[in-house]
Amino acid sequence: MIDPFFAHRLLAWWDEHGRKDLPWQQERSPYRVWVAEVMLQQTQVAVVARYFERFMARFPNIHALASASLDDVLHLWSGLGYYGRAHNLHRAAAAVVRNYDGVLPNDQRVLMELPGIGRSTAAAIVAQAYGERAAILDANAKRVLARQHRVGGAPAVKALWELAESHTPADRVADYTQAIMDLGATVCVRRAPRCAVCPVAASCQARAAGDAERFPEAAARRQRRLERRRFFVVTDQTGACLLERRPAQGIWGGLWSPPERDDDCSVEAFLAAAGISERDVREVHNAPTLRHGFTHYDLDVLPIYVQIAKRPAEVRETGAAWIDPASHRLGVSAVAAKLLKATQTELFKA
Ligand code: ADE
Repeated sequence: MIDPFFAHRLLAWWDEHGRKDLPWQQERSPYRVWVAEVMLQQTQVAVVARYFERFMARFPNIHALASASLDDVLHLWSGLGYYGRAHNLHRAAAAVVRNYDGVLPNDQRVLMELPGIGRSTAAAIVAQAYGERAAILDANAKRVLARQHRVGGAPAVKALWELAESHTPADRVADYTQAIMDLGATVCVRRAPRCAVCPVAASCQARAAGDAERFPEAAARRQRRLERRRFFVVTDQTGACLLERRPAQGIWGGLWSPPERDDDCSVEAFLAAAGISERDVREVHNAPTLRHGFTHYDLDVLPIYVQIAKRPAEVRETGAAWIDPASHRLGVSAVAAKLLKATQTELFKA
């Protein structure tokens, strides 16, 4: 049974308890909503809030983003993770400037043709930026609806989209969209949902059955694999570090990083391939392993710090460069930033 007042109850709750001071709710524009929704795809609100204003200050409009270099965009994305989102945002900005005169389309289907915009993100953009009726189904909305209707198992996604469509009101769709996300983020939380203060608890089937935490049902987990890779952090006489631009595909795509090699690559083999003479090596030391979790596997980063007295006249590898870690404006992953930061400490310089 669908509660015909579901949206109404949610909106009344949101008027009193919802979030209205998020950065992307201020000076709301299609561009700001789009960037925020892409950042929010895989990242928590509190983290996005730290990055969003900085990104907006650097790229205040879609033209600024479209004409920026990819390095500049990745620099502002450094640490946010899932860097494919930044590549897509940059490509989509160029496409909007080229094909739509710089105006983000207000049609969900057209938006979905742009890189990095899926069905739910497109809906959030048209609902929040243009007030058009469109149903979202982000992780928060999914949890609220899966519990409200107690739907699980493999067919759930299709059923959930249908439920999302049927609950979405024609009026106040921007607020409704925010309300269902806010309810999921603050009340209908994954563990120990706060049903006592939930505006739609009375019609919630999972609550009635006493098994709200079972929903949404998690997909079967695969065994996580563990990879071990060596990262050579080479510093020259000026404090510059040898960095390589990573391939566009794969983890940390397009970001700059200390060279990553197989677990069995020796220091000698690495130096020889990089054209660095062993005579110029001042010091080599291994630092403790850093474990980094990705969605499907863990990576053990084995850092090897190499200080050299003189950098070679030329860089052997294409896509490699000597970069000053203190002043660069490139994209680096959080792990690479950590590796580079260690070269800035007094201990290292001593
Ligand atoms: N997650 C995805 N979009 C969001 C938004 N607009 N506000 C809060 N959380 C979100």
